[in-house]
Amino acid sequence: MADGFAPAFAFTPEVDAATASVWSKVKTRISPLEWRAHAPLIEAINRLKREKNAVVLAHNYMTPEIFHGVGDYVGDSLGLAREAARSDARVIVQAGVHFMAETSKVLAPDKTVLIPDLRAGCSLASSITGADVRLIKQRYPGVPVVTYVNTTAEVKAETDICCTSANAVQVVEAAAAAWGTDRVILIPDEFLARNVARQTDVKIIAWRGRCEVHERFTAEDILELKAAYPEAQVLAHPECPTEVIAVSDFTGSTAAMSDFVATRRPKQVVLITECSMADNVAGDAPETEFVRPCNLCPHMKRITLQNIYDCLLNDRYEVRVDPAMAERARLAVQRMIDLPPPARPARYDLVKARHHVDVELI
Ligand code: 13P
Ligand code: SF4
Repeated sequence: MADGFAPAFAFTPEVDAATASVWSKVKTRISPLEWRAHAPLIEAINRLKREKNAVVLAHNYMTPEIFHGVGDYVGDSLGLAREAARSDARVIVQAGVHFMAETSKVLAPDKTVLIPDLRAGCSLASSITGADVRLIKQRYPGVPVVTYVNTTAEVKAETDICCTSANAVQVVEAAAAAWGTDRVILIPDEFLARNVARQTDVKIIAWRGRCEVHERFTAEDILELKAAYPEAQVLAHPECPTEVIAVSDFTGSTAAMSDFVATRRPKQVVLITECSMADNVAGDAPETEFVRPCNLCPHMKRITLQNIYDCLLNDRYEVRVDPAMAERARLAVQRMIDLPPPARPARYDLVKARHHVDVELI
């Protein structure tokens, strides 16, 4: 190396000291070799955030070096939306997928919202358009439209109230009561709609959208796991098929799964969801053993430390939403946020639920 030349991202003793607390959380998930590449980027990102008055909102499906290393707020879709609304930073970097960045922009129109890779999409968000929702409303006049946050701002703008997997039952019941109806339209996740329908007396009209990560789990997978690991608690996300939920021990949003592990401290657990979830929860639960069948979300995995750094350095890629559309979408998201927060993230107790309730599929 030439005299005086210092590589931009060297693993120096200063970097080592500045990132030691992160290393202690990720060292069972990341090799020392990888860590020497990650740590300087973590230190550089955290420095850039301070210089630019920026925060990183990181979803539970981010890789552990992002989640534990640079996330100022980490959580599920509901938690990230709440945080976007209350953050006083000038810049929000969304370490998640595009619909989450749009939700942040809708809730914080005066802030600069950046996403490190514009291609980070979602199979649920791309399953439905604003025009589809307008047609649905024509077909079911007077029936409130509850939309999962995993949708574009264009779809949210056609919506009465949003929900996430952490509050879908609560929102469906609140919408039915407010509109004085016994049925609601819950779009676009077919499986979430089926799982909610089994928890409420409200009749559900559903769309055929699927999460490409969760739809691939089967009841046979779960039964095989239970046979191989009889002591393990099986926790499944409500975007999974209903047959999967029926044979799991617990179902809830990503925040509800974290909460389950943090409060019940199971000896052995299986998280039926995206792969990074177990890596991240494991960082705070060293005494729990994680059995690891999981599916990767290719959209979430587009976000890396390197593109978070590039995004902050170059102020790219900015997410914009047409102001008139944002105004209408904000009403739907704000109605959800204004509902009293549940004491604990919701769970879907489908093992005890009524199995014969079904949805009307559009
Ligand atoms: P939650 O974090 O709201 O449970 O959502 C999971 C998900 O698939 C987000 O894309
Ligand atoms: Fe969309 Fe599923 Fe990926 Fe979440 S995990 S971003 S719902 S495809």
